[in-house]
Parts: sequence; C-alpha cells; structure tokens
Amino acid sequence: MLQPAGFEMPDAHMEEAVENLDRRAYQLTAELVVFKEQLLRSVRSCEMFTMNYPLLIEHILREAKHFMNMLVMLVRRESANRPQDLLNQEFFWNRQMAEHAKFIAGLLDPSEEALIDTARMFGREFDELTVEAQQAARQTMDIADITADSREETERLRDFKAAGTEGILECKIQSIIVPLLGDHVLREANHYLCIMGMCHN
Ligand SMILES: [Fe+2]
Repeated sequence: MLQPAGFEMPDAHMEEAVENLDRRAYQLTAELVVFKEQLLRSVRSCEMFTMNYPLLIEHILREAKHFMNMLVMLVRRESANRPQDLLNQEFFWNRQMAEHAKFIAGLLDPSEEALIDTARMFGREFDELTVEAQQAARQTMDIADITADSREETERLRDFKAAGTEGILECKIQSIIVPLLGDHVLREANHYLCIMGMCHN
C-alpha cells in the first residue's frame, strides 16, 4: 500500500519510539515523586509552610504514582481491560474525586455557603463510592452497579466543576481557587468518565 512519504514509519520503529517515550516519562515522574515525597514530609513535620493543603500534595503524589503504574503496564504490553482493572481505576478515581470536592469546599470563600454545602455533599458521596469500589475489588463482586453509580456521580461533579470554573473566571464566585486548578480538576473528571466508557473528546 502506498503511503505519503511523511507518514511512512515501520511499526517496529513506532513501537520503539513510544516505548522510549514511556520510559523517559517514567524516569522523570519517578524524580517528581521523590520531590513530592520530600515536600510532603517537610510540610507534614512543619519544617516547611505552603498555602497548599498537605492532602493536596499527597493527592498529586498518588496521581504521579498511578501514572507510573500505567506506564509500566504499557511498556509490559499488559492489558488493562479486565473487570478488576476497571474496579481498581474506580477505587483510585472515586477517592481523587472525593478529595477534589473537599479541596473545592475548603478553598471557596466562607460566604459561598450553598456551594460549600454542595461540594461537601460530593465529598461524602465519593467517599462512599470509594468504599464500595474497594469492597467490590476485594470480593470480586459484579461491578456494573458501582460503575453506573460512579458514572452518574462523576457527571454531576463534572458539571459542578465546569460551572464553578466558569463562575471563577467570570468573577461571579468568590474563592481562593486558581482558575487553572478548577480547569485541572475538571479535566480529571472528564478523564475518569472516559475510563468508564464516556469519552467526549
Ligand atoms: Fe486530582
């Protein structure tokens, strides 16, 4: 089959290039993990002060390690399509979603009472979903119900984050949330929905 010159790339080369990229990403993320661990230790022992919550540092550290696990699976060509893999993802991301909601609640201006209540409600809901996913992962139960609940709740949280980020950008919501953080947690909700089979991009 004829291919345009610019697109000609044997599969083996492509695989090698991707594998190299994965290995470099793994190396760099490993260094970032060491840095984040140091940072977390310093903050937790009150040797360092930052306006970031210690739980936020722990949260992004967990995400970095999760990314490294994904890279290992990619390099080993391991499939991540078993029901158990989806449950592990749900356990991981439900906890991340719970923490996002709690960060939002803690960074809104105290006068934004209704929004704080909603964010706290999301925090509690996702705490419950995290426990459910964890229990199901241990007992290898049927996961369809948990996935359906997680999807539904993540869609609601995604809409809340989207409206919140808009509100912050339009200066209609008072907070100390950096708009980029709002956008970041919104992207993670969309990423999680994509994992659960609801990709919109
Ligand atoms: Fe996150």
